[in-house]
Amino acid sequence: MVIKDKDVSLTTTGKELIDALLDTRQRELELMEDLSSEQLSGPRIRNVEPPLWELGHVGWFQDRWVLQHIDKQKPVSKRANSLYDSFNIPNSERFELYFPDIEETKEYIQDVLDRIIQRLEGREPTEEEIYFYRLSTNHEDMHTETLHHIRQTCGYSAPSLSLEKESDAALTIDPDYESHDVEIPEGTYQLGGTKGTHFVFDNEKWAHPVQVNPFEISSTPVTFGQYMKFVDEGGYGDRTLWSDEGLAWLEKSQQTQPVFWKKDGENWVWRWFDKWLPTNSHHPMIHVNWYEANAYSAWAGRRLPSEAEWELAASSEPSSNGNSFTETKRMYPWGDHQPTNGLANLDSRAMGLVDVRAYSAGDSAFGVRQMIGNVWEWTADTFEAFPGYVIDPYETYSEPSFGQQKVLRGGCWATRSRVIRNTFRNFYTPDRNNIFAGFRTIKK
Ligand code: AVJ
Ligand code: FE
Repeated sequence: MVIKDKDVSLTTTGKELIDALLDTRQRELELMEDLSSEQLSGPRIRNVEPPLWELGHVGWFQDRWVLQHIDKQKPVSKRANSLYDSFNIPNSERFELYFPDIEETKEYIQDVLDRIIQRLEGREPTEEEIYFYRLSTNHEDMHTETLHHIRQTCGYSAPSLSLEKESDAALTIDPDYESHDVEIPEGTYQLGGTKGTHFVFDNEKWAHPVQVNPFEISSTPVTFGQYMKFVDEGGYGDRTLWSDEGLAWLEKSQQTQPVFWKKDGENWVWRWFDKWLPTNSHHPMIHVNWYEANAYSAWAGRRLPSEAEWELAASSEPSSNGNSFTETKRMYPWGDHQPTNGLANLDSRAMGLVDVRAYSAGDSAFGVRQMIGNVWEWTADTFEAFPGYVIDPYETYSEPSFGQQKVLRGGCWATRSRVIRNTFRNFYTPDRNNIFAGFRTIKK
């Protein structure tokens, strides 16, 4: 049976929690619907997991944190419990296992979801429940983004989702707008999440003072057009631009250009899902890893922002004398209200990249554009715990990655607006180039 929220009487808060779970589930399913059974289970390539595993995993997560953790129940399915625990089954083994087919997997995750809905019948959810229901939504939201980059990496077709497309008006570009450096004054910035935020991961806790020197940050991310110059002028062959680790990656990957790019006669084209497209010089550079972002920066005589610089440029408001910034900290560059059409390229509404000059309404108080949405932005920093870090119950979310990965900020076109805010810290290993990541730079 498929239980819908309307068959169960829920309180306002209960309904809000369930609506979010149903919404993320709908997207998860839509991202799988048009894939063949072959596509659902493969191919075996690096940095990609089988979509079918992804589907079982998001259902298992709800079982793990709501039914097993809160209710102290046994797993809904013993077999599922051994298949979909991401921490105990390394990516490399996810192809070796036999998975139930799509129908059986859907039944399992629906069974879990039905129980998750039913147990809230006619009562107010507890604080603990609110936390773990929101955690489950955030988790599934992140996996819907993963499904987008799996489809891109594998060369499957672009997803076809039922959603309200971004309006042309929102994407209108002022043709006179020029990318420029924005001066940010020095001061003590409170880096990190603030109490009262709707949902926050342990790695964001809590805001703490960081002294920041004045800097000049680009108002837009690095574009295809800018990056192409770096490639064409021999950036991948100039060893002086790369760190030792970057050189090691170059050697191993044998890349002489961005992944997904190829020459079509004189011109560069790039693969977007199952199509080869001309590069649009005003689109943000995407699918570069941390080493490539640093090499480009070195070539341009610039550098990546620290997390503190990035977050300050996105969140702070200039003080009236112009010498510093106030203590106000915005949740999003444009203010505290949630992203809607016209503010940022999120939620797959544009189903891809947009011009870096678009979304002027989403500028930060300092006038930095598109800090949220379009592409994730690599920062210079290694992912570390903030001072006073206390691990959350979901212990394997942040902790195993501390010291190992690099921080990205801002979300991309496929990120759900529920997940993203100025203080959200994403993290990946520096060699990852199949995520929807680009970068912006700071003047040296
Ligand atoms: C924080 C997006 C890097 O997808 O690997 C999902 C999120 N963790 N399930 C990832 C996550 C466990 C994570 N990122
Ligand atoms: Fe997960």
